[in-house]
Amino acid sequence: MQIKSAEFVISNSEVSKCPSENIPEYAFIGRSNVGKSSLINMLTGRNKLAKTSSTPGKTQLINHFKINNNWFLVDLPGYGYAKVSKSTKKEFQSFITSYFKQRKELVCTFVLIDSRHSPQKIDVDFMEFLAENEIPFCMIFTKTDKLKPKAIAQNITKYKESMLKGNWAAFPTYFTSSSTHKNGKEEILHFIDQVNKEFYQGNLN
Ligand code: GTP
Ligand code: MG
Repeated sequence: MQIKSAEFVISNSEVSKCPSENIPEYAFIGRSNVGKSSLINMLTGRNKLAKTSSTPGKTQLINHFKINNNWFLVDLPGYGYAKVSKSTKKEFQSFITSYFKQRKELVCTFVLIDSRHSPQKIDVDFMEFLAENEIPFCMIFTKTDKLKPKAIAQNITKYKESMLKGNWAAFPTYFTSSSTHKNGKEEILHFIDQVNKEFYQGNLN
């Protein structure tokens, strides 16, 4: 899929204030600093569309970006950021939770996982929350430029094993990405293109 246009629409912390057009929407979530905003920039080929930072906690709101005039990419705050106060964390959590529970346009969520780490409880817990609420999602293993392919494959296998040993019937669809090396772009955009087609043919929901 070619990205012909990508524009920032609105930032807010209330689901009720999110755009009301009924077009398919894809959210990016994961731990702070995992590379959500960088991946949005890499996918759209716009370096400064989403704000990135080496300091965790950069994205603090729900950010809608309209792509090719017919779908949204949504950049969200990260979870698991130790330095924010307890009350800020609670506020974050409650509006993120509401977003996922209420946003009907959300056709797929990408859960970003740092490919350098073995399975983390916070990520598996979040995916369980999505599954319990019947929210479709895929995993994206990020920052693959930082590790040798063999080590990445080993970490993904560890994830598979630990999730299948738990109460997961299947391992979710997953992608690997490097925003620095621009890897994963074609596969992720192709997937989005397919889901968009399903949406516009009325095959979803
Ligand atoms: P929050 O908004 O704070 O939750 O973070 P985020 O998940 O949006 O991460 P962001 O995209 O801001 O990137 C965090 C840091 O990781 C930045 O310093 C990026 O340059 C770096 N980074 C992101 N993606 C990659 C990648 O694929 N490879 C490498 N080497 N660094 C990356
Ligand atoms: Mg961010």
